[in-house]
Amino acid sequence: MGKIIAITNQKGGVGKTTTSINLAAGLSRHGKKILLIDIDPQGNATTGIGANKDEIQESMYDVLIGQATLKSIIIPDVIESIDLAPATISLAGADVYLMEHSEENQNILLERIKPVRDNYDFILIDCPPSLGLINRNALACADSVLIPIQAEYYALEGLAQLLSSIRFVQKMFNKDLTIEGIVLTMFDSRTKLSFEVMSEVKKYFNEKVYKTHIPRNIKISESPSHGLSIFDYDKGGAGAVAYEELVKEVLANNGK
Ligand SMILES: Nc1ncnc2c1ncn2[C@@H]1O[C@H](COP(=O)(O)OP(=O)(O)O)[C@@H](O)[C@H]1O
Ligand SMILES: [Mg+2]
Repeated sequence: MGKIIAITNQKGGVGKTTTSINLAAGLSRHGKKILLIDIDPQGNATTGIGANKDEIQESMYDVLIGQATLKSIIIPDVIESIDLAPATISLAGADVYLMEHSEENQNILLERIKPVRDNYDFILIDCPPSLGLINRNALACADSVLIPIQAEYYALEGLAQLLSSIRFVQKMFNKDLTIEGIVLTMFDSRTKLSFEVMSEVKKYFNEKVYKTHIPRNIKISESPSHGLSIFDYDKGGAGAVAYEELVKEVLANNGK
């Protein structure tokens, strides 16, 4: 049964999508079969991993409102061993739908994933930058959350809300939800600030913080516009090396 990991942080621009894509790509390179689910209406994971938005007929929106099965919208092997469940801007309407059907729909995403879950080793969900109902659905269905934190001044702002949202979901829908890990992104080892943020984050999360930090790296930021993971865009570069280290930690923590 595939492990469901939600990559989440309600702050935008912290590296959720970048981490989702490169974790998916890195895990697939270790022979794991991956489903990447994009549930951000911006659809950045969808385009960043190389899917063509213009060719997408149905997306996660249709799945969430019950108009399509997850299986029917999946784009197989968008990269070898990675299937993609794409998102488009239409997903912006899903929050309203979920609100109107809140009674029966708290766990709708889990219901949609169940039929395909056994086909994968890992199911990664790239979450939107909000704590709305889409995000709550992701947390309700996930085994764990992986939280990217940008190594910058306001990094810790909002973390209390994120943690309370996680606790709420644990209490109401998903008592087994755990924290997979915290990854520091856009780390600049030349600045004192990066290290200060790191030690603050460690005070909060202790051993949950990955040893690997992702460096601020121009190739990482360029790769999505080419629809490539960092492993294909800049093989052997600092970004690829860092994401490979992160992948190894994730595998080790999961006994794989
Ligand atoms: N390690 C990194 N180094 C440099 N730029 C990065 C890095 N990680 C992400 N970025 C860039 O920062 C921006 C936000 O990253 P993204 O993954 O889209 O964040 P989120 O999904 O949390 O909004 C993007 O333009 C992305 O290319
Ligand atoms: Mg994103």
